[in-house]
Amino acid sequence: MKQKLSQILFSQGFGTRRLCAGLVWHGEVSVNGEVVEEPDTEFETEGLRFAVNGQEWPFFDKALVLLNKPAGFECSQKPKHHPSVLSLLPAPLRERGVQPIGRLDEDTTGLLLLTDDGTLIHRLTSPKHHVPKVYEARCKHPLTAAMVEQLLAGVELKEPESKVPSKFQRPPEISKAEGAEIVDETLLRLTLVEGKYHQVKRMVAAVGNRVETLHRPRFGALTLSADLKPGDWRWVSSPAEVWGQ
Ligand code: URA
Repeated sequence: MKQKLSQILFSQGFGTRRLCAGLVWHGEVSVNGEVVEEPDTEFETEGLRFAVNGQEWPFFDKALVLLNKPAGFECSQKPKHHPSVLSLLPAPLRERGVQPIGRLDEDTTGLLLLTDDGTLIHRLTSPKHHVPKVYEARCKHPLTAAMVEQLLAGVELKEPESKVPSKFQRPPEISKAEGAEIVDETLLRLTLVEGKYHQVKRMVAAVGNRVETLHRPRFGALTLSADLKPGDWRWVSSPAEVWGQ
């Protein structure tokens, strides 16, 4: 589809329509290596790459990015005690309203997807769609085959530090791991298709152990590559990549 350059910049998070037109007028935007000074110039958006102040950007109708989340960042948009993961992304992505797809705890590291596509958030977080998420939990006590069996059979999750009197609490939730394996004496690899609050920590607590550190190396078919350092992010070219298509 063809769109005006100022509209393209607006849709990609470069500020108000006025600011976007101003960027073009001031000669700060180039397409195919050439400065374009007329904001109404039209371009085919499919596969378009443009540069703003020398920095190149791909056009995406909806943004989908993969962040290697470091510890010490909250997934909430209104973080309470630590900076938000959104502070690790450039301003245009924040301006477009990208949000984490599910949440990782402040102290959890690893693969976090963010998007401005509400339908995709729903599809990737709903247990119905069976998207596997792999976690590596370093545990306090040695792991046993019995713990693994319990995790695969399903465990009862306790309400997390609830202040609600017990008679008003919801019935206990049962969570089942799709996969559970002992990697070494205290390292557990768990595959889950749901995303309940503190799920891994509560499942491990339910079998009498304790998570000391938690890392997510995989979400669907996406894995963290070694060259993406903690705090770095990259574009995911299509949601199909998450399903391995
Ligand atoms: N389970 C947890 O307990 N914490 C996370 O961050 C993710 C899954």
